[in-house]
Amino acid sequence: MASLSVNHLLGIKDLTRQDIELIFDTADKFKEVLYRPIRKVPSLRDMTIANVFFENSTRTRISFELAEKRLSADVINFTASGSSVKKGETLLDTVKNIVAMKVEMIVLRHSSPGAPHFLARQTNACIINAGDGTHEHPTQALLDAYSIKEKLGAVAGKKIAIIGDISHSRVALSNIFCLQKLGAEVMVCGPATLIPKHITSLGVKVVHNTRQALLWCDVANVLRIQLERQQDKHLPSLREYARYFGINAALLKEIGKPITIMHPGPINRGIELTSDVADSAHSIILDQVENGVAIRMAVLYLLAEKIKVYGRGEKLS
Ligand code: CP
Repeated sequence: MASLSVNHLLGIKDLTRQDIELIFDTADKFKEVLYRPIRKVPSLRDMTIANVFFENSTRTRISFELAEKRLSADVINFTASGSSVKKGETLLDTVKNIVAMKVEMIVLRHSSPGAPHFLARQTNACIINAGDGTHEHPTQALLDAYSIKEKLGAVAGKKIAIIGDISHSRVALSNIFCLQKLGAEVMVCGPATLIPKHITSLGVKVVHNTRQALLWCDVANVLRIQLERQQDKHLPSLREYARYFGINAALLKEIGKPITIMHPGPINRGIELTSDVADSAHSIILDQVENGVAIRMAVLYLLAEKIKVYGRGEKLS
């Protein structure tokens, strides 16, 4: 049976194209399970998984929890608020204590880039990155690419524009790695203050004009303007951003070709997308959310197979 080349999911950068295709093939099977009257299989009934979230989340946390429950795993949810982190306990001590209770897999969201990599080195658990600061968000990129494949039949050869705050976005970096590994062309678009200077070294095109990006692309993956970072003055105002970089139905009509609209959420309606675009027939935003469960089931299932090879509780190299 085919298996992943990695023992943890820390980032898309570490995956091969074959790994991504294996995850997609496995997700196809789990997506079929999700349409059965009983949406559950026993595959992970011998696994205990902790969702350890140090940052807020709606989609990723619920999607992982549902994926784990659909696979019959035992699940615990940890959030920093209300925990002993508030008494000063470190990330490593927190996770080592959770692992000591015979937890085999840790799904981690943390504001520090590299936090999942650190835990993969320091603990015996299988670590899945659910977003580490501005670095990577691998399962988001996998579900995004899977949704493009589902909508357009393939990812290879497609032109994908990632529009918005590229500098602060873990979704952008993981998407760039994933889409390029699958043979897509990638463009990033946004104000110069929100695009890293050296991003062309990743082989992406760069434009600062949304109309130009839309004329070029088959798919626009529109990113959230991170309102919590606006005190850093990357933008003169949100109104100005909406006017020059926001996408509305009138602009898409002028472009005059079908463009698939994506967004990882949460959407700032009226800033990066108007509601008539977010809720239009060309939007696959809720398909992305639906596919997230099957993709996460596939990732958990394939990594659990690796744990069985090494032996439960043993260090995964
Ligand atoms: N897409 C995403 O990561 O959303 P949440 O922050 O709600 O998990």
